[in-house]
Amino acid sequence: NEVKVFCPATIANLSCGFDVLGLCLDNVGDEMIVRKSAEKGVRITKIEGANLPLETEKNVAGVALLAMLEETNAGFGFEIEIYKHIKAGSGIGSSAASSAGAVFGANELLGRPFSRKELVKFAMQGEKLASGNAHADNVAPALLGGFTLVRSSNPLDIIKIDSPNELYATVIHPQIELKTSDARSVLKQTVSLKSAITQWGNVGGLVAGLYTQDYDLIGRSLHDEIVEPLRSVLIPGFDLIKQSAYENGALGSGISGSGPSIFALSRGKETAEKIAKGMCAVYDEINLPYEIHVCKV
Ligand code: HSE
Repeated sequence: NEVKVFCPATIANLSCGFDVLGLCLDNVGDEMIVRKSAEKGVRITKIEGANLPLETEKNVAGVALLAMLEETNAGFGFEIEIYKHIKAGSGIGSSAASSAGAVFGANELLGRPFSRKELVKFAMQGEKLASGNAHADNVAPALLGGFTLVRSSNPLDIIKIDSPNELYATVIHPQIELKTSDARSVLKQTVSLKSAITQWGNVGGLVAGLYTQDYDLIGRSLHDEIVEPLRSVLIPGFDLIKQSAYENGALGSGISGSGPSIFALSRGKETAEKIAKGMCAVYDEINLPYEIHVCKV
């Protein structure tokens, strides 16, 4: 009558793929218990580790699950307990983890009426509440695992992308909060044709590199000249962290989601750990507290 769900953190965008690419960090995440209840509807009964609203309509997990219940005939209701480990405004998909976890758990209790891909559109409603925009680039990898591409969000068309087996991610989270809505408000609404050409060349290159296990191509493609220049100024020490990642062997490095976390991708665990050490040294130097994660992707 209840399921315990691991709700993974995610890195959205991956430099060139703003709002379309993402990957799952399967050793970083929240826990959630989703339980059947006799009373219909959705109740958030407990939240530990974060100061978030318990009211169903104000909580991303509640809103995502309500969206799902509109399309199903559940003869019972749901209670949700949330144990947050991913900090809000960290850039590694905190709201997505909760939205995805709630619909995943409830779907299990309902006997899986929806596929994982179908769950994405419900979880997106949680993202809409959190940031004002229903992007799927965090909820898709949280639900499907690995790398995902949101080819289209209306109608929804999500592709799970294979990735090479020696690929690692290093993510550092400076302990400041950056709201996705604020990080979106600094963006321009138009891009030049020249930048667009560069960007879609890189998106194609990154996807091709992942499929063909071409680490150099992955590295050459991890660039973003549209969003990163506008957002990186909001992140302390961004240029130094990125520089240190490259010096320690990163294939590429950029803002994780809407920041302030910064990620680097690399080949092999040793390199990923070396990059982590280098990143930590940069923030140690300026006395900025951080969290660091190394993860196989
Ligand atoms: N694609 C989104 C953004 C991810 O960068 O605003 C943040 O949740």
